[in-house]
Amino acid sequence: MLIRRRKGWEIPESQATPETVFLNRRRLLLGIGAAGLGAAGLAQPLRAHTAPDLYPARRNPAYEAGRALTEEKIATSYNNFYEFGSHKRIADAAQKLNVSPWQVKIDGMVAKEITIDAEELIRKMPVEERVYRLRCVEAWSMVIPWSGFPVRALVDFAQPQSGAKYLRMETFVRPKEAGGQRQFWYPWPYVEGLTMAEAANDLAFIGTGAYGKPMPKQMGAPLRLVVPWKYGFKSIKSIVRFTFTDQRPKTFWEAIGPDEYGFWANVNPEVAHPRWSQATEEVIGVGKRIPTQIYNGYGEFVADLYRDLPDEKLFM
Ligand code: MTE
Repeated sequence: MLIRRRKGWEIPESQATPETVFLNRRRLLLGIGAAGLGAAGLAQPLRAHTAPDLYPARRNPAYEAGRALTEEKIATSYNNFYEFGSHKRIADAAQKLNVSPWQVKIDGMVAKEITIDAEELIRKMPVEERVYRLRCVEAWSMVIPWSGFPVRALVDFAQPQSGAKYLRMETFVRPKEAGGQRQFWYPWPYVEGLTMAEAANDLAFIGTGAYGKPMPKQMGAPLRLVVPWKYGFKSIKSIVRFTFTDQRPKTFWEAIGPDEYGFWANVNPEVAHPRWSQATEEVIGVGKRIPTQIYNGYGEFVADLYRDLPDEKLFM
């Protein structure tokens, strides 16, 4: 299974290219990218209209990022979504994803397994808006206004059994819609997981929208995880299955590179990725590097979760 292929985000472009060249090229790409997408019709609201009447949702003032929002046209045109290609310009390709109807299975160690349409599920949840920082393991960051609901609300809805220790999440498998899934060497489906304590944390969020609208397909419509204290790869997109289990899930990136990507993946500037530093991050769209903060600056919410886990690799 561990076929080593070079992934776009495994080696930051900044490592292979002198930084000034890289930054200039990145700025150029962002400018051209936005214009190019506009011409292709992507300036139109992206058609992922699950429960459109819910947006914009009321903003919860408890969650502010302390930095300017990333421009919507940048956040919707610079994405990681390997199901549609191993590069950042997948927004066009992602429009092929059919998100309505969208069946979601909730199974495993629960009172009763169910399959429910995403729209029906979202309408049962307390939808609100939160502004979070997003820090990718590639050492770039954005600030995004997400709409959605706390993972805890989903857990309450699912009624897990007391023995459940983890929440495992899985993305769709539809190679006809998602060309990247025809790259058979990847261990599809994309899988991620949280401990039950992480899932119950105030910050853990299921995104159903962004920028006051339903979630764009390229950002993981209709349901994606948002866990801003962890590297972005934990924030699994377009979820079709939530499983409560007593087994720690083997995640997509753990299956590909267990020496480089772990289950915990908490942000820490002092723990370098084996092949690059995590000390700073490029603020996308701003063309500036800033120091990275432990837990991406969310320590007051989450540090307690990790106090008694001395043997775990919490930061990879
Ligand atoms: N989820 C799925 N299913 N497939 C992916 O390739 N990429 C992850 C994460 N969730 C990914 C995914 C990575 S590496 C990052 S940084 C974030 O999504 C990017 O989210 P964004 O495109 O909304 O910024």
